[in-house]
Amino acid sequence: VGDLKEHDLKGKRVFVRVDLNVPLDDSQKITDDTRVRAAVPTIKSLMEHGARVILCSHLGRPKGVTPKYSLKPLVPRISELLGVNVEMANDCIGEEVEKMVAALPDGGVLLLENVRFYKEEEKNDPGFAKKLASLADLYVNDAFGTAHRAHASTEGVTKFLKPAVAGYLMQKELDYLVGAVANPKRPFAAIVGGSKVSTKIGVMESLLEKVDLLLLGGGMIFTFYKAQGYSVGSSLVEEDKLILATSLLEKAKSKGVSLLLPTDVVAADKFAADANCMVVPASGIPDGWMGLDIGPDSIKAFSESLDTTKTIIWNGPMGVFEFEKFAVGTEAIAKKLADLSVAGVTTIIGGGDSVAAVEKAGLADKMSHISTGGGASLELLEGKSLPGVLALDDA
Ligand code: 3PG
Repeated sequence: VGDLKEHDLKGKRVFVRVDLNVPLDDSQKITDDTRVRAAVPTIKSLMEHGARVILCSHLGRPKGVTPKYSLKPLVPRISELLGVNVEMANDCIGEEVEKMVAALPDGGVLLLENVRFYKEEEKNDPGFAKKLASLADLYVNDAFGTAHRAHASTEGVTKFLKPAVAGYLMQKELDYLVGAVANPKRPFAAIVGGSKVSTKIGVMESLLEKVDLLLLGGGMIFTFYKAQGYSVGSSLVEEDKLILATSLLEKAKSKGVSLLLPTDVVAADKFAADANCMVVPASGIPDGWMGLDIGPDSIKAFSESLDTTKTIIWNGPMGVFEFEKFAVGTEAIAKKLADLSVAGVTTIIGGGDSVAAVEKAGLADKMSHISTGGGASLELLEGKSLPGVLALDDA
C-alpha cells in the first residue's frame, strides 16, 4: 500500500479512509457491494502485514446521529470478504473508540461508526481531524469516491497523521482516470452521455483537448440539435446552453477531433416505461414526441467508429436506460466496449450512471476499469485536482 512496504506495519495502528457509501434498501440490506469489495485488497494487505486496521467511512448525508445511516449493516459483508470478525465501534472518536483500538490484535480490523455523524467532518474541522488522527500511527486513503471532498477524514487528518499514503484502489483509479487519459494509446475515444449539457460541459471541454474521437449521446444531444436548428419536439433542451453547444462543436472542429452526434433517435410519446415509441431521424423529431434513446443507425455508426480505437473512456448513458424500451443504445455501447476490451482495447468506465448500466448488462468484469467514484471521477475527467489526493505525501 503506497510506500508502506518501507515502513514496519506490524503492530502499527493504520487509519484507513474507505468509501463504504453503498446503497441500502428499506430493510438495511446492501443492494450493491461494489465499493465494499473494492476496499478489500488494501485492507487485506495491511492485515497480512500485521497492522491494526481502523476503517473509517461515511454513509449517506446524515444530519447528526441518524440510526438509518449507521454503518452496522455493513459489518457482516466486510467480515465475510475479509475472513475475520470485524469489530464495530459506536462512534468514530472518543474514549470508547480508543479502548477498542488499544484492544485490536495485530491483523485485527475495527470499523468506526459513520464519520458524518459529526458535522465537523464536512466542515473539515481541525480539532476533529486531530481527534481522528490521534487514533492511529499512519494514514491510508483508499476512498477514491470521496476524494473530491475536502473533509476531516479525507484531507484535514493528513495534517496530523503521517505518513499519509494512497491505498490500492485509489492508486488504480488514478492510474486509469489520470494516467491512461493523459498518456492514452491512440486512437483515443470518449463517449459522453447523460441528460444534461450543464453537468457534462467540463468533461467534454477537457476531453476535447485529449481525444481523437468524441461520441455524444443521452438527453443532452437535443440541446446540440436545437443549436443546429433541428426540430426536437418535446425533448429535453437546455435553452441557456445553446450557444455553448455550438461553441463545443466548433471547438471540436478546430482541434481536429471527430465529433459524432446520433443521426437517428428513438422518440417516445411520453416519459414512461410504457410509452409508444418510433425511430426518427435526429433532424426531425415530431411535435409532442421526445427522444429517449439513440437509434439503430447511430448504434451502428458509433460501433464502427470505435473499431480502430485503442483507448475508450465512457461517461453517461446513451438513453433512459432505466426504462427497458430505451436501454438498447446504452446496452449496445456497453456490449461493444466489452468486446473491444476483450480484444485488448483499454476501456474505462467513469461515473455513476454508466457504471450502473454496465453492471445491469452484466459486463462489469469485462472492462479494463470501472470507477467507484461518481462525482470524484467526473471532477478528475474535468481536469480538476482532488483534495483527498493532494493531501497525500507523494501527491
Ligand atoms: C459518492 O457516493 O459519490 C461519495 O461517497 C461521496 O458522497 P457525497 O456526494 O455525499 O459526498
